[in-house]
Amino acid sequence: MEEQGAPHLVVLTGAGISAESGIRTFRASDGLWEEHSIEAVATPEGFARDPERVLRFYDERREQVRRAAPNAAHRALAELERAGIRVSIITQNIDDLHERAGSRDVLHLHGEILMARSSVDDALRYPLSSGGIRLGDVCDKGSQLRPDVVWFGESVPRYGDACDIVAEADMLLVVGTSLAVMPAALLLEQAPLEAQAVLVDPEANDLAPPGVGRMALSAGQGVPRLVKYWRATGRLELPNDLLSL
Ligand code: APR
Repeated sequence: MEEQGAPHLVVLTGAGISAESGIRTFRASDGLWEEHSIEAVATPEGFARDPERVLRFYDERREQVRRAAPNAAHRALAELERAGIRVSIITQNIDDLHERAGSRDVLHLHGEILMARSSVDDALRYPLSSGGIRLGDVCDKGSQLRPDVVWFGESVPRYGDACDIVAEADMLLVVGTSLAVMPAALLLEQAPLEAQAVLVDPEANDLAPPGVGRMALSAGQGVPRLVKYWRATGRLELPNDLLSL
């Protein structure tokens, strides 16, 4: 359990934190996602046009997630939570690697690939503990099931909750996101003025907005170093010697 008034670390993660677990990022492959155009497999129009192709695409992604394992970055964040620091994770990722590493407070801004949902009622959601979604799999209201993920052009229902969490941060740790997608990228502006922020990403020197510390390292290298420092000092501050690496 966290101590009352424990320092509050809010972590915003993107595809980069799962890269070392073998799950490819989005923008490294010139707009293709595993050789599929985003429009064809990650939009409501693509699903309406060819639902079977979209369902098969997410089945493949889901099996990739099930084969993947949390890496040192996921594990370090769970370790920090066990050390008594309050850690809230807001992830753009649809995988469950934060949860499998042991993190208990995870908000999936763009949904979860291991959940299916009704295509007519967002409240009807079904865990996919095994297998995938087939054409003809229907919800309790008889409509086709779809992956419980946010497609391009769809609203981000959890964005308000995410803003409320960031607004309570003492430290904002951003890991492995190009900050290219709205509204996720706007979350950085919700942090309290007195909060510090740091970006861990090999491209941090190019990506970090003004006033944000930068650690140009992979998640697996940078996050454990920060966690080790924060556990040793018990304070969520930025170690100058570790930044701008
Ligand atoms: N460690 C840390 N960061 C890494 C690593 C790594 N090992 N490898 C790559 N990165 C960084 C890249 O430099 C890049 O800045 O991860 C970032 C990945 O950026 P994107 O591919 O744009 O992924 P993301 O920011 O999560 O995309 C946001 O866009 O496609 C939609 O809904 C999808 O959630 C996704 C959203």
